Amino acid sequence: MIFPRDFWWGAATAAYQIEGAVAEGGRVPSIWDTFAAQPGRIDNGDTGARATDHYHRFADDVELMASLGLSAYRFSVAWPRAANLDFYDRLVDALLARGIRPVATLYHWDLPQWVEEGGGWTNRDTAYRFADHAAVVGAKLGDRVAMWHTLNEPWCSAFLGYGIGVHAPGRRADPFPAVHHLLLAHGLAVPALRSASPGSAVGIALNAGTVRPVTDAPADVDAARRIDGLLNRIFFDPLFRGAYPADVVTDTEAVTDWGFVRDGDLATISAPLDAVGVNYYQPDLVGAAAAPVDDGSPYPTGGRVVHHPVPGPVTDMGWAIDPTGLRDMLLRVTRDYGPIPVYVTENGAAFADTVVDGAVHDAARIDYLRGHLAAAHEALSAGVDLRGYFAWSLLDNFEWAFGYGKRFGLVHVDYATFTRTPKDSALWYRDVIARGGL
Ligand code: FCB
Repeated sequence: MIFPRDFWWGAATAAYQIEGAVAEGGRVPSIWDTFAAQPGRIDNGDTGARATDHYHRFADDVELMASLGLSAYRFSVAWPRAANLDFYDRLVDALLARGIRPVATLYHWDLPQWVEEGGGWTNRDTAYRFADHAAVVGAKLGDRVAMWHTLNEPWCSAFLGYGIGVHAPGRRADPFPAVHHLLLAHGLAVPALRSASPGSAVGIALNAGTVRPVTDAPADVDAARRIDGLLNRIFFDPLFRGAYPADVVTDTEAVTDWGFVRDGDLATISAPLDAVGVNYYQPDLVGAAAAPVDDGSPYPTGGRVVHHPVPGPVTDMGWAIDPTGLRDMLLRVTRDYGPIPVYVTENGAAFADTVVDGAVHDAARIDYLRGHLAAAHEALSAGVDLRGYFAWSLLDNFEWAFGYGKRFGLVHVDYATFTRTPKDSALWYRDVIARGGL
C-alpha cells in the first residue's frame, strides 16, 4: 500500500496543548487558562501553564520531527500571542530549514479571554476580530506557510464550549449562534489569508464522523440522520453548498430560531477552499431513545437520540477502534462535497504508555495507525483525492478536560523533566514514511 510520491506525511499539535509559557512573549490570557483555573474542570487540576514546554524546546522538537522524516507539521498559532508572533516566525524557519512544510491552524480553541468577555463566539463581532487576526498572522507568516486551516473542529468549540460547557469557556446555552459565528469567522478569514498569503492553500479542519444507526429500523435511521446533521452537515453544507441543511434547521426549532444568520453570510461562508482537513478518531453508533433521555449529550436533540457503544476494542479514551469509519468518511466527503483535495489532519489514539528502559512499547498504537492508514489507502484507491495524513499527535500533551492523563503522542513526554522519548510507534511511522506506505 504505497501512497503517492508527494503525499504529505505529518504529525499535528495545538498551541495550548504543547507550548506552555503562558505568560511569556506578551501572551495574554485565553479562555483555557481561565477554565483550567476553575476547580473541577480538568482532571487532576492540570493546566496548560507549562504543557510540554515546547515554547522553549521547539528547536529540539523540530529536530525530532526531522529524525522521523516528517514532510509536514501541523501546529496552531495562539491568538493570545497575536501581539508578538516571533515564536512562530522562528518555528516556521526551523521547519523549512529541515524541509518540513509548515501547516498552520489559526484557531485551535484558545480564544483570548478579552474576546470572550466581549461575548466570545456568541457575539458576531468575534468573527470580525478573527478576520483581523487572520490578516495579522498572514502578514507575518504568509510567505512561508504551505497550508492554512482557519478553524480546528468548530463543532467542539460550539457544542462542547458553549452548549454543554465541558470545554472552555464552559458555558451552557444554545450552541447555534457560536456555530454560525465560527463559520462566519472562517468565511471572513479566507480572503484575508488569500491576500496575505498568495499561493498557499486555504482550508478548514473538521471533526467529521461516520454516523451509523444501531439497527435499520426507521427510528434508528432517523436518529443517525439527526446526529449526522448536527455533527457533519451543519458545517459541510454551509461551507460547500452555501446553505444550512433544512432538516437541521427544523430539528433545532425548539432551541434556536437561527435569527443570527444575516443576508450574505452564507455567501461569505462558502468561499471556495483549496482543500478540506478531516480529523477522525471513531465512528458514532446511534439509535432512537425509547423515552426522552438526558444523558448529558452535546447534541441538543431533546433527548431523542442515544449513543450506543461500538462493539470491539477501544482506546484509553474509551473511543472505538474502527478504521472503516475513516474510509467511509473520506468516501462520503468526496461524494457529497467534492471533488476536493482531502487531508487527514488528525488521527491517532491514547493509550496508557510507560517508559521501560528508555523505550515505550506501544504496539496498540501501531495497530491503530496501521489500520487507519490502510483504510485511508482504500479510500485513495477508490478515488478520494487524499493528499496527506497527520498523526495526532507528535507529543503527549494536555488533552483538554482530561489534562495530562491521556497520552496521544508518537513521542512520550515526561512531565517532570520534559524528556522526550520516541515510542515504538514513532519509529514505526518513520519507517512507513521512508517506505512511502505500508
Ligand atoms: C481533537 C482535537 C485535538 C485532540 C484530539 C484528541 O478533537 O482537535 O486537539 O485533543 O481530539
